[in-house]
Amino acid sequence: ESNQFCEAGIGYGDSECGIASSSSSKILIKGGTVVNAHHLEVADVYVEDGIIAAVKPNIKVGDDVTVLDAAGKFVMPGGIDPHTHLAMEFMGTVTIDDFFSGQAAALAGGTTMHIDFVIPVNGSLSAGFETYLGKAKRSCMDYGFHMAITKWDETVSREMEIMVKEKGINSFKFFLAYKGSLMINDELLLEGFKKCKSLGALAMVHAENGDAVFEGQKRMIELGITGPEGHALSRPPVLEGEATARAIRLAGFVNTPLYIVHVMSIDAMEEIAEARKSGQRVIGEPVASGLVLDDSGLWDPDFATAAKFVMSPPIRAPGHGKALQAGLSTGILQLVGTDHCAFNSTQKAFGIDDFRKIPNGVNGVEERMHLVWDTMVESGQISVTDYVRLTSTECARIFNIYPRKGAILPGSDADIIILNPNSSFEISATSHHSRLDTNVFEGRRGKGKVEVTIAGGRVVWENGQLKVVPGSGNYVEMPPFGYLFDGIEKADAKYLSSLQAPVKRFKATT
Ligand code: URP
Ligand code: ZN
Ligand code: ZN
Ligand code: ZN
Repeated sequence: ESNQFCEAGIGYGDSECGIASSSSSKILIKGGTVVNAHHLEVADVYVEDGIIAAVKPNIKVGDDVTVLDAAGKFVMPGGIDPHTHLAMEFMGTVTIDDFFSGQAAALAGGTTMHIDFVIPVNGSLSAGFETYLGKAKRSCMDYGFHMAITKWDETVSREMEIMVKEKGINSFKFFLAYKGSLMINDELLLEGFKKCKSLGALAMVHAENGDAVFEGQKRMIELGITGPEGHALSRPPVLEGEATARAIRLAGFVNTPLYIVHVMSIDAMEEIAEARKSGQRVIGEPVASGLVLDDSGLWDPDFATAAKFVMSPPIRAPGHGKALQAGLSTGILQLVGTDHCAFNSTQKAFGIDDFRKIPNGVNGVEERMHLVWDTMVESGQISVTDYVRLTSTECARIFNIYPRKGAILPGSDADIIILNPNSSFEISATSHHSRLDTNVFEGRRGKGKVEVTIAGGRVVWENGQLKVVPGSGNYVEMPPFGYLFDGIEKADAKYLSSLQAPVKRFKATT
């Protein structure tokens, strides 16, 4: 199988990987339908030195230019995955995909940038940041960082400022779950929200009630339910709804924008819908697994099969995924991530006797673009321009790197895919490019195929072959005060002036 390259354990620096056969720095993509979130037209795209130089019909070039025929195909911005965990230490182990293997997989699936979560080292943000820069050294596509906040003191507060002002981080994730490890309490959440607001950084929340999850887990173990199904049973949708509602209300109280990661349930989505209806700035990110899978796999009698579906919040009962799809198509939810967090069956087997020890996480970075195309565009739920918005443009806008990323426009980075709507894809662990020995989407097939991926102006995926160069990916700094912060200070001024009346009344009576 020609798609298969570099299985786990084999070095990537050798020649069978196709490394260093990088193509010319000038590329012309001819005759495709160029799709942006705002507009779609038949045009040529000319790329020079990693940047899109021109987008218009009938571009003429010399013979030193690589020409790709895109007639009848869609030419779109490469996918941006807002949510991955590469080389992450978690639950006593490390994810099997590092920055190179995870990114190679991403490129084979049409994703050309991802934003990963830096986990602080012993609570130190700067140590965490340096560690992650080290992990990302062999990157073969562009990447950015969010950062998790797992404790609170003066140092953390000061370091958040350094991360935003000097290191290119504009978002922080707070975990309301994982009691005893990453979980924080409401007091910390409020401090974090205030700090985020003052820095123009976006607060992100993993919304599950960790104390109640802990109780739910105890309940399952007492009942003798130790298998993977206990994972879903111990943390039902109501706990996701509760934490989502709490985070939204506290963000509203602070008046700072909020991003809910991995929205997995109707319960959570309803809270987001209600908040958005009231005018609050809340972003909802469903992930590939939550959109297209259901929880039935967790009941599979084969442990390895069931355990591969374990992630948090859990993949829900049938119906939730369909509802999340509808949420995307109607604007309740704004973009699609993956939460790619790959643990192989040996790692998953840590929890063979106790679901609480199964490392949480599923794959998706390679599959997201195909799954969203097939599930949402092929089914008629969204337009092709919507597809670009949900998989790329909106992420670039939220994290303030648009139109460098997320657009096919002159001056934008040449991160481009060519998708053939008449071809088809099939997902399998035997042909995917992740180091995982399983695939949570095993056997799934559908219409649409990413035939070419261009990253940083290089053709890195073509004819089922990856040509990736370690070290060719760049760290993308993301500036604070993205569009979600526009007008926040006006609302604050209005609130403060509304307090003038009670302040005066108090002064007059004392
Ligand atoms: O199960 C999951 N989601 N693992 C990754 C960590 C997280 O909560 O995002
Ligand atoms: Zn190799
Ligand atoms: Zn999470
Ligand atoms: Zn995650």
